[in-house]
Amino acid sequence: MSVKAEVIRILEESKGESVSGSCIAKQLGVTRASVNKAVAALRAEGFCIDAVTNRGYRLTWESSAVSSTQIEAFLNTSILGQKLYVLDTVDSTNNYVKKLAAEGESEGTLVVAKHQSAGRGRMGREFVSQKDTGVYFSLLLRPTLCIDEALLLTSAAAVAVCRAVDALAKVRTEIKWVNDVYLGGKKLCGILTEAASGFESGGVEYVVVGIGINVANVPLDETIKSIATSISDNTDKRINSSELIACVVNELEKIYKNIGTREFMSEYRERSCVIGKRVNAIRAGVSREVYAEGIDDDGALIVINENGQREHISSGEVSIRAV
Ligand code: BTN
Repeated sequence: MSVKAEVIRILEESKGESVSGSCIAKQLGVTRASVNKAVAALRAEGFCIDAVTNRGYRLTWESSAVSSTQIEAFLNTSILGQKLYVLDTVDSTNNYVKKLAAEGESEGTLVVAKHQSAGRGRMGREFVSQKDTGVYFSLLLRPTLCIDEALLLTSAAAVAVCRAVDALAKVRTEIKWVNDVYLGGKKLCGILTEAASGFESGGVEYVVVGIGINVANVPLDETIKSIATSISDNTDKRINSSELIACVVNELEKIYKNIGTREFMSEYRERSCVIGKRVNAIRAGVSREVYAEGIDDDGALIVINENGQREHISSGEVSIRAV
């Protein structure tokens, strides 16, 4: 890790408090001059670092915007995020990654945008992606899975988001099958997984996993307010967006490396807010009332249908019925 990334990590850990230059230099085993140089470079990148006389450097709270230096400082992965693009604005990070994938970009590439002008949700819906209110990012994966198993990546991403949000915000998130992360009964995060198949191999050529998490309060209209939430709606804890992204990616890599074992599926089930409930299962515009009995190891929803028969549903979405 560069001195710059190490310095920002130390300042982040003591955010709001001062750390002396000599203390940082000692921790990193570098000279005071190289700490000063790193601080100057970080300031040039836009970080707000105060120099407090006789006390040292202090990272101010305004520095929570997404930055590649901070994301790199918090990443501890060997595949995901090894190549990183941070964009001010883009139509959709999923579109951007698809273009990179077609050009042969390597597995694990992470694209983060501060704003998306045409963020996409599932079923052709729009995903509102304003600046400074959420995190929007996509990962390029090249797994050795068949196309049906690609559903597992969506489930894995949902568990990774839950773990990261819970750890940083000290909350308990849930998953609404198949890919929505809920907090306090409302949607906090959406995941859009898109796969391209290799015609010759019959397997997956690449998968793009796109994740959008609402971090700060957004001025929402009344309809959205009743169904969507943000981290700051649920906790006073300040969340560093770069740390949140890195934390999700770290968790996803842990799962991804052993995805074939499907071990994470027991956590997915524990976090499910639909198991044991009557739900509307919606597929191709048709809605049916069913009982959600469980979720199988491939991520399919096990339901008892209107005729009392058991079915495994692997696509579509559900809405929870009011009791
Ligand atoms: C949904 O809730 O229907 C899925 C929303 C997925 C949104 C993310 S934000 C990053 C990535 N880029 C997109 O255009 N969509 C995904």
